[in-house]
Amino acid sequence: MNARASAARVLDRVVSGRRSLNDALAVGLHKVADGRERALVQELSYGSLRWYYQLEVMLQHLLNKPLKKRDSDLRCLLLAGLYQLTRMALPSHVAVNETVQAARALDKAWATGLVNAVLRGYQRRKVQLEADVGESPAALYAHPGWLIERLKHDWPDDWEAILQAGNQRPPLSLRVNRQQITRADYLEMLQREGVEATSLLHTSDGIRVGVPVPVSALPGFGAGLVSVQDAAAQQAAGLLELEPGLHVLDACAAPGGKTAHILETEPGLASVTAIDVDERRLQLIEDNLARLGLSARVLHADAAEPDGWCAGHSYERILLDVPCSATGVIRRHPDIKLLRRPADIGPLVTRQTQLLEAMWPLLTAGGMLLYTTCSVLADENERRIGAFLEDHPDAMEQKITASWGRPCAHGRQILPGEDDMDGFYFACMRKQL
Ligand SMILES: C[S@@+](CC[C@H](N)C(=O)[O-])C[C@H]1O[C@@H](n2cnc3c(N)ncnc32)[C@H](O)[C@@H]1O
Repeated sequence: MNARASAARVLDRVVSGRRSLNDALAVGLHKVADGRERALVQELSYGSLRWYYQLEVMLQHLLNKPLKKRDSDLRCLLLAGLYQLTRMALPSHVAVNETVQAARALDKAWATGLVNAVLRGYQRRKVQLEADVGESPAALYAHPGWLIERLKHDWPDDWEAILQAGNQRPPLSLRVNRQQITRADYLEMLQREGVEATSLLHTSDGIRVGVPVPVSALPGFGAGLVSVQDAAAQQAAGLLELEPGLHVLDACAAPGGKTAHILETEPGLASVTAIDVDERRLQLIEDNLARLGLSARVLHADAAEPDGWCAGHSYERILLDVPCSATGVIRRHPDIKLLRRPADIGPLVTRQTQLLEAMWPLLTAGGMLLYTTCSVLADENERRIGAFLEDHPDAMEQKITASWGRPCAHGRQILPGEDDMDGFYFACMRKQL
């Protein structure tokens, strides 16, 4: 299968089919066996989505008339062609010729002339097209307009930096399984394998790999020495103040990154219960724990309806890593720029409120609930917690003091890109005795 045609189909599945990039790539890479071709499909898919709002404006200027709806795959091929010319270090004649050939692989031989004309048009009109991009904020910042407006409102001093961070390539960040190996020893293992890596700022177990590699190239990955996890997500386990003998509930646990870190951090816990409402994702928790040599009670359950599964249990620690807009992790998931819509935020906030309300009664007196999101929107973060504290006199905020992030009216926020971390929000609440 032609890599550029495969990438066009992946993009089309995201742009027209509104599938996630992960799902679309799983299908799209199925028939691409060669490692270099697979890497090219990924690069074109991630890159074209990362810069979609810019490439889209250029394409509109380059097309004499809009393409028909049934040619959405061709439109995506053209976007991938422009991505190669604007952002990839490829000889431009290779980018043009190969993209023209890919039109044939899409069974659209009639469009080879059009693809050639559009891409050559870009080369001729580059300076003017780049000026056109500066005229619309969405194109200039390569993010949807509604999100730019919300960020300006919520982060008047930082919105531009947040948008710039959303366009960066993320680092490969690891968490060493301290039950199996120390960070220093794992860094030495990486060095022996020729993988350049350093300790990750603000973490006890984190490692930053210089040039991202597939996990299969990480020594001992299969044997559970290490997991992939951003430095921001690695803050959760430490904030929970874990001690031997505690009962811990991870209420939105899949794929189990934070569950595993909790178990690695404190092996003497009395119990760890990890639940998720998505049955398919539950298997990911099981797989991760098995690989890492850890165990927890893993349940398919709805955290919003605890009567069905909690059987009167209460917990001294609850981690509530709620479903959210994921606006803090756009650099890792550029499809969010297209898939998330302003109308999604209200229902997400309602869901977050329901989850907080349902979890609070399960917390023991004196216990701590850690609410976390990978969002940068105040509605999902400080305003959510502010409203909850107002409605629950038995909830006391425990202020987070840390070397990372910044304090908010309630809770603490890491903005994306700060110390090269993902955007995350944390708030700790104690239940009064
Ligand atoms: C942000 S992800 C959790 C990431 C996870 N904590 C980790 O660190 O690997 C949110 C998860 O919440 C789950 N979820 C959404 N609604 C839920 C509900 N009502 N009950 C339980 N899980 C839910 C989703 O299926 C998703 O897996």
